[in-house]
Amino acid sequence: MKHILIAGVSGAIGHALAEHYLAQDESLKVIGLCRDPSTVKFHSEYKGRVHLLPWDAAGSTDSTEIAFDLETVLSKDEGLDGVIYAAGFLHGAGIVPEKRLEDLNAEALAHSFAVNATGFAVLMRAVAPWLRHRGFKTVVAISAKVGSITDNGFGGWYAYRSSKAALNMLVRNFSIELPRKCRPLACVAVHPGTTLSPLSEPFSRSLAQLTVHEPADTARNIASVIDGLTQDNNGQFLSWDGSRIPW
Ligand SMILES: NC(=O)c1ccc[n+]([C@@H]2O[C@H](COP(=O)([O-])OP(=O)(O)OC[C@H]3O[C@@H](n4cnc5c(N)ncnc54)[C@H](OP(=O)(O)O)[C@@H]3O)[C@@H](O)[C@H]2O)c1
Repeated sequence: MKHILIAGVSGAIGHALAEHYLAQDESLKVIGLCRDPSTVKFHSEYKGRVHLLPWDAAGSTDSTEIAFDLETVLSKDEGLDGVIYAAGFLHGAGIVPEKRLEDLNAEALAHSFAVNATGFAVLMRAVAPWLRHRGFKTVVAISAKVGSITDNGFGGWYAYRSSKAALNMLVRNFSIELPRKCRPLACVAVHPGTTLSPLSEPFSRSLAQLTVHEPADTARNIASVIDGLTQDNNGQFLSWDGSRIPW
């Protein structure tokens, strides 16, 4: 039986990915992390194969607590075949993406880093013991193209861009350390493509000029990237169509 952990399973992309994998493989189990599991609904046929655990990326700074909760639904011996970090923060609670330097504030930066980067780091520390089995496993951080330093020719969105760049650096670091104990493995950052979701919703007018995907299409695209991963992809930043994005 395959086991996949999805952090941010309540989000448009995280939820669509969970449903995609549950539909693809009827022996697959999903462990979903989100702030309020009672808000997340799955098709009744998936019920026995989904375990939801409460988790707040901005508040769960103790990796031992996360590991303790995970152990209640999955033993380390069973192991994880995939980890997907699909939690992310762009706007909310009075925070909007900055257009200029004058809009920048410390709380917005701190919160964006907590959800977009620190949450992933603490989670990885917690779940590493579940990745020590001999099977091939994938660790995928849903990043964003705007987190690419090389690609940034436009500026703005200080908190989101810099926290996604930090997420990318964590991916790169884990891709170097994890294979020492968890080989065979591929740890990558993936840009999901512009997708209809609460995160992208306030920008719908500017999105009109872009190709915008439905969450289910994005899930199919990301799953196709994940399913094609080999150890050779370890440490890469990939787009939803499998092409490389410069760091
Ligand atoms: N949509 C796009 O066009 C687009 C483009 C590029 C990259 N991305 C990335 O794709 C990922 C998924 O985004 P989405 O489009 O699916 O947006 P979404 O539907 O708004 O989902 C965001 C997810 O992040 C979770 N989250 C936010 N704050 C959290 C916290 N403090 N603790 C735990 N979870 C928290 C949300 O949980 P709650 O339900 O508890 O709020 C939700 O599960 C994000 O990393 C985003 O940056 C999206």
